[in-house]
Amino acid sequence: MSLPAENNRLWTKKTIALVTRIEPAAELAWKSVLSEHLPDECILSFHEMTAIERQEAEIAIVANPDPAHVAALPNLVWIQSLWAGVERLVGELTGEGPPIVRLMDPELARTMAEAVLAWTYYLQRDMPAYRHQQIKRVWQPLPYRPPGQVTVGLLGLGLLGAAAADRLKGAGFKVKGWSRTPKQIEGVDTCSGESGLEGLLAASDILVCLVPLTPETQGLLNARRLSAMKCGSALINFARGPVVVTADLLAALDAGRLSHVVLDVFEREPLPMDSPLWEHPNLTILPHISAPTDHATAASIVAANIQAYRRSGCLPLTVDRGRGY
Ligand SMILES: NC(=O)c1ccc[n+]([C@@H]2O[C@H](COP(=O)([O-])OP(=O)(O)OC[C@H]3O[C@@H](n4cnc5c(N)ncnc54)[C@H](OP(=O)(O)O)[C@@H]3O)[C@@H](O)[C@H]2O)c1
Repeated sequence: MSLPAENNRLWTKKTIALVTRIEPAAELAWKSVLSEHLPDECILSFHEMTAIERQEAEIAIVANPDPAHVAALPNLVWIQSLWAGVERLVGELTGEGPPIVRLMDPELARTMAEAVLAWTYYLQRDMPAYRHQQIKRVWQPLPYRPPGQVTVGLLGLGLLGAAAADRLKGAGFKVKGWSRTPKQIEGVDTCSGESGLEGLLAASDILVCLVPLTPETQGLLNARRLSAMKCGSALINFARGPVVVTADLLAALDAGRLSHVVLDVFEREPLPMDSPLWEHPNLTILPHISAPTDHATAASIVAANIQAYRRSGCLPLTVDRGRGY
């Protein structure tokens, strides 16, 4: 006699809900790697959970979840995000919800720091200008600027910003950094507040955006702040699209205030076909690839968080919903 599916599950294991709106194949890949790292847990996709399992789940592992599905898990104690950036999750899970734990993965920070260094070199070594010259068959060396003469300003000195600062310092760049609260990082000229930001914008040859999207940072780089940037400087946005006002950015590029802009993130992704950003000669468009999540390292961090919670009942560091990150 065959038993219903739920009876076949190892009932000694606790159920963890996997709630996503990612492609089914991608969800299956996450389910498989998470199950490998958490052999004592029963990880089930939201859609395959019974009503009882939905009642019982204390933990949800999420990636762009449908808020209605999260709400259908009434006894959640906490939510583990598979992503480092939780802007969308915080925005969508309004009200008094369970605490959210974001992915804090040193491997992701390393990958982001590598991307910041790679595109900083791209700008410092004038690769966009040489590309334009090649199209016109122009043979013209441009003056070389050693890293020690190039100031890189970082907006955001969190997990990713601090890792980027370290990598840039190691490569010999002058590094400035801006954060919400004052910070001290050896070898980095740090600041906070509006006056700190103004000074950093005026001094940076390359500005790198790594702040989370919150009500305070939405539209942070608007016409006023872009016009406060050093003339001919460049911008890299690896944070979230709405931190930069697109129309103001295009105006700053057209006015020559900015020499080149590298964008990895956009208000709408994929970037719509009719966006004027695609065609701009001084823009480099990347398809949100600066720091992809590594399944294996992410799963092992998620597993460590869950195992620690099962042992001690203590939650990992949670997102401050009021602050937005
Ligand atoms: N493109 C990609 O592939 C990708 C991948 C992962 C993440 N991201 C983006 O990167 C962002 C940063 O990640 P993270 O892990 O470094 O975040 P984090 O550790 O939370 O650090 C955020 C930093 O931004 C600062 N900040 C926040 N609000 C601010 C404000 N209003 N004014 C000034 N500074 C402010 C914080 O200041 P305090 O230190 O004072 O708190 C902190 O230094 C994520 O939120 C996400 O948007 C992008």
